[in-house]
Amino acid sequence: MEDNRRIPVHVSIIMDGNGRWAEERGKERVYGHAAGVESVRACTEAAVETGVKYLSLFAFSEENWSRPEHEVHTLMELMVKAMGDELPTMMKNGVKFIVLGNRARLSASLNGMIDDCMSATAANDRLTLIVFLSYSGKWDMLQAAKRLAEECADHPERREELLSMDTVGFSRYLVTRDIPDPDLVIRTSGECRLSNYLLWQAAYSEFYFTDVLWPDFRKDEFRSALAEYAKRDRRYGKVK
Ligand code: FPP
Repeated sequence: MEDNRRIPVHVSIIMDGNGRWAEERGKERVYGHAAGVESVRACTEAAVETGVKYLSLFAFSEENWSRPEHEVHTLMELMVKAMGDELPTMMKNGVKFIVLGNRARLSASLNGMIDDCMSATAANDRLTLIVFLSYSGKWDMLQAAKRLAEECADHPERREELLSMDTVGFSRYLVTRDIPDPDLVIRTSGECRLSNYLLWQAAYSEFYFTDVLWPDFRKDEFRSALAEYAKRDRRYGKVK
């Protein structure tokens, strides 16, 4: 049972271990990704039940494009299907759905499904579910810097204002501008690294690493992570 006194506002998950989960069962890796979709559903429900307001998932990194073509293709098809299948449940549960990342690299059919889900759920406000697709932290910071440079070039009269920008100002150029930084970052499957995920945004996040593989990470595991978070003492570099 989680400690209700300290529920994180934003929980972010690096879903890892689908391939190993499938291999342990003598199946193809994509079988693990399909089982992983069930964990997405379970954690979304658990987030709604526990009062978490933002749940974000690292579903596909910029680096994942270099996986075998068959795996990339199947994963993308799986996402189109999962989004279509889950839309009625998201509507029923008041879930607002957002995809962030380098969408120019996604197929027209996936982009079409994303647009449909985002506009259908735009007014929902119980939980915001963010799926990071074709995302990397360095890509995000680079696109922010480029937009800023462009703004500087287009508006020389704003040079001084832009040069005196602080970190809060710079955050507004990141694709995460409309969502709070994650309070808790979870990574499954025993790997203890950030893998070019929310490099800027996770500056003061609490981290929770578990050996559980993503397809086995369901409601109980989500609640255990929240219970561990409730015990943490967050100081943000200050002395209490
Ligand atoms: C990491 O496991 C998992 C992924 C790269 C894909 C995760 C995506 C899903 C579960 C689909 C989510 C769908 C929606 C709609 C959000 P891995 O393949 O790196 O596992 P391994 O480390 O054992 O090889």
